Amino acid sequence: MTAAAHTAAAHVDGLSTAAPLVGRASELAVIASTLNGALPAVLRLAGEPGIGKSRLLTELAASADARGWLVLEGAAAEFAEDLPFGVFVGALDDYLAALDDRALARIDPATAALLAAVFPALRRDIAAPALALPNERYRIHRAVRALLARLAGAAPLLLVLDDLHWVDTASAELLTHLLAYPPRGQVLIAVGYRPAQLPERLRAALDRGHAAGRVVGVEPGPLSRDDARALVDGLVPRAELPVMYAESGGNPFYLLELARALLELARAAPPGRAADRALADISRQAPAAVAAAIRQEIAAFPATARSLAQGAAVSGEPFDVIAAAVAADMPQSDALGPLDQLISAGLVLTTDVPRRFRFRHPLVRRAVYESAGPGWRIAAHQRLAEALRAQGVPPTELAHHVAAAAQPGDQQAIDELTIAGHALAGRAPLLAARRFGAALRLLPGGETCRRLDLLQARAASLGAAGWLTESRAALMEAMALVAPGDPYRVQLETRCAGVEHLLGLHPDAHRRLKSALDTLSDRGGAPAAALMTELAADALWRTDWEAMRRWGQDASAAGRHLGDRAIEAAALALLALGEFGLALPEQAEDALLGAATLVESLTDAELAARPDASFYLTHAEFAYERFERVVRHADRGLRLARATGQGQFFIGTLYAKTAALTFLGRLDEAREAADEAVDSALVTGNDNQLGFALQARTRVATATGDLDVAVVAGEESAALLRRLGPSVLVAGSAWTLGEALLEAGDLGGCVTTVLDAVGGPNAERAAGGFRCRAWHLLVRAETARGRLDTAQSWLDRIDAILPRLTPSGVPTTMAETARAWLLLARGEAGPAATAALAAAEAADSAQARLEASRARLLAGRALGAAGLRDQAVELLERARAELDHYGAHRYRDEAVQELRRLGRRVGRGGRRGNGGPGLDALSERERQIAELVAEGRTNKEIGAELLLSVRTVERHLTHIFGKLNVASRAQLGASLRS
Ligand SMILES: Nc1ncnc2c1ncn2[C@@H]1O[C@H](COP(=O)(O)OP(=O)(O)O)[C@@H](O)[C@H]1O
Ligand SMILES: [Mg+2]
Repeated sequence: MTAAAHTAAAHVDGLSTAAPLVGRASELAVIASTLNGALPAVLRLAGEPGIGKSRLLTELAASADARGWLVLEGAAAEFAEDLPFGVFVGALDDYLAALDDRALARIDPATAALLAAVFPALRRDIAAPALALPNERYRIHRAVRALLARLAGAAPLLLVLDDLHWVDTASAELLTHLLAYPPRGQVLIAVGYRPAQLPERLRAALDRGHAAGRVVGVEPGPLSRDDARALVDGLVPRAELPVMYAESGGNPFYLLELARALLELARAAPPGRAADRALADISRQAPAAVAAAIRQEIAAFPATARSLAQGAAVSGEPFDVIAAAVAADMPQSDALGPLDQLISAGLVLTTDVPRRFRFRHPLVRRAVYESAGPGWRIAAHQRLAEALRAQGVPPTELAHHVAAAAQPGDQQAIDELTIAGHALAGRAPLLAARRFGAALRLLPGGETCRRLDLLQARAASLGAAGWLTESRAALMEAMALVAPGDPYRVQLETRCAGVEHLLGLHPDAHRRLKSALDTLSDRGGAPAAALMTELAADALWRTDWEAMRRWGQDASAAGRHLGDRAIEAAALALLALGEFGLALPEQAEDALLGAATLVESLTDAELAARPDASFYLTHAEFAYERFERVVRHADRGLRLARATGQGQFFIGTLYAKTAALTFLGRLDEAREAADEAVDSALVTGNDNQLGFALQARTRVATATGDLDVAVVAGEESAALLRRLGPSVLVAGSAWTLGEALLEAGDLGGCVTTVLDAVGGPNAERAAGGFRCRAWHLLVRAETARGRLDTAQSWLDRIDAILPRLTPSGVPTTMAETARAWLLLARGEAGPAATAALAAAEAADSAQARLEASRARLLAGRALGAAGLRDQAVELLERARAELDHYGAHRYRDEAVQELRRLGRRVGRGGRRGNGGPGLDALSERERQIAELVAEGRTNKEIGAELLLSVRTVERHLTHIFGKLNVASRAQLGASLRS
């Protein structure tokens, strides 16, 4: 045996198992540090193929394992990007299947059902996942987040998710959620990916996490010359090294593959001139040479082994030997010999799970996959689909093979893809849309009805996934199949206009609706009534109150004439909103009452057929200060949306509910509704929806006094919505931000924001009584910065419009509190108190409880200033108790301060109530942070726990140190314990 061949024989085994790790000292240091602290919650490894990402993840897994962590690993795979939640299933499913039932029994049934939507292992007892509404995928995400926290209960958890550049969309969304809301407890998520191929949304989420300090990154580069030499030392002649290093670019995969090719060559032929030349050739131009070498390696296998490898590459990664045999069209018993050949040659590796194997590297799998011809691959998918079908596997799980194999006109495939699409719509809408798309491509010409159904289903799924432009395209394709003027076509046009509004294409939507109406010969029929209702809604976006009123009138008359109570209800609600916008008194009351009565007379099924009826009703009732009713009708609308899977009004309804609950002083519930709105909007990926949801969050946070949260959410919301162009809804968002800025003390910012939002001094863009809210903010901001004359001019505007406003509860409250602030600033404390008391009375009558308590707080302040101490104390005590009960901590603290100023010794009466006098000075948020500091947590950890940025935590800490008069975290801990 020659020396070179000897070397080859000695090391070929070494190459089929992992070579010892070389270099990577700094990367390993970062990795080790993530195991030492609980945070950051995510470690990302980014780099080109073969650079050593997976290897580093393996090292991480081994050290975590050695420390007693629970380690779960999964990887996305090429050619399998459409298996829903594939990466997570790969990492967790086996583990969950092996858990004994008691461990899972403690998960509540609702969460278990949501988890079953992700993990096949949990579908043992649970039939259908209880999720219909794609908007609510975030509930699945929350359930998985809770599951991870639970799995980390006994020991810390490391979740490894590799090759994310091939991630399926459902997993990508789930990971995005986990990046925004890291699971509680010691959970470290480590991800590997090729940055150039990573889906855009996931990249953005990782970058956001990085900016927030929750993601730490490692980017392994080329190995150094010395490390490269160490890697292939003894495998190849020294003389080859410089060329190999240059050609491989220091990439360990290419280095090892070149070494492998050289070894094979040395084995096949003793060294000689021909072999030397071949050696030199192979060392040149990796990766092309490596690809060629792998192709040769595959070609050199006996036919059975080669076809088993190809079957394996088609069936999945990691692959199951039975599935590989099916795909390769050989009996399972014949597959075992060839499998051993593949393993001993190092093409295929074993895994921890018996009967499951993987390829040496994804690049090797790809080469094997491509070595099989496209026709052969289709046949392999066909065989897999048939075998799975025969086993009774449901369509969702074989659709991937069906889509790859089916011929046009294959009815069974069309059915299966359609079923799979509907089954996936709730949890993985983009995949569902792809399934519908595949079914459409197979559908023979002429099946117009089915095509229309599929196109609509595809449009709905795309819309739910936030792909609105594509959703619109699918609707347009459907419209082209139906003659203009056909009632069905009109329905499609109406839906399309709805999508266009969400895209901010208001003129397109308007034109579409008008021309659809023109094509209708029968203006008295149901399609016309529905269309006119949509035109009334369209006017809302354009702030055209007159048009809104006109279309509302026509549509409600048409609905009444047809005996269609749902349409009539929706139209009346819109009419009421239009009349509110025009500040028209009495008529609006009639429309509003009519709408409410009709909605309440509808059965669930009837209302579900026109979800806009309850949606517009909640908004009209909010405008008319019927806060309790808003909550009741919103809850019914939300329940029906969930039950029927119609999500288009979900976020808007949550918005109305949040706003009403805030007025009612039910701030915990309001915050919950706002959080739901934000989470839901995040999964839809729609900026407009997110803008509204963040507006809801701003409102609640301003009321509770979490001003950091309020301002950040408000600014983001205003920025998102500004792109929609001016509209009534945009005005609302900036007005909400204006209030947050006022409370946060940014008076100039408040004035600019409000004026900009409502369209200038006349506040034309704000509807009816909402103008008073804008002017109220301007009075207060100008008063606070000492420009009393300017403040007075804003107050005059309120007074001028006030007599015309119905209902007058909230506008009067706004007018009188504004007046009270201004009078107080002028030193007229007595009249200020009178105004504030009038405000409280007006707010009480409108059930605007939070505003009523705030007015009492102001009245108490004014009475104190007027020297009427006893009356002041009485009012302030009442305000303090009410505000505390509502959870409006910041306003409550103001009441406490006023009371102290009047010489009353009072506790805050906070819900915890057990803190010392020092703690007492802290707000709820400050107290939370102080307690976490006392537990020894870092600012980063606290930020992650409370969903605050590190900067915000720091700012709170400055306040806390000041209030408690301490200088260090240690002193703070001591002070809290004493
Ligand atoms: N630092 C290293 N020391 C030894 N072998 C390495 C090193 N980095 C990578 N490898 C080997 O190189 C090959 C490719 O690395 P891998 O981690 O799979 O790359 P990637 O995941 O980035 O595509 C694997 O066989 C791996 O074991
Ligand atoms: Mg890898």
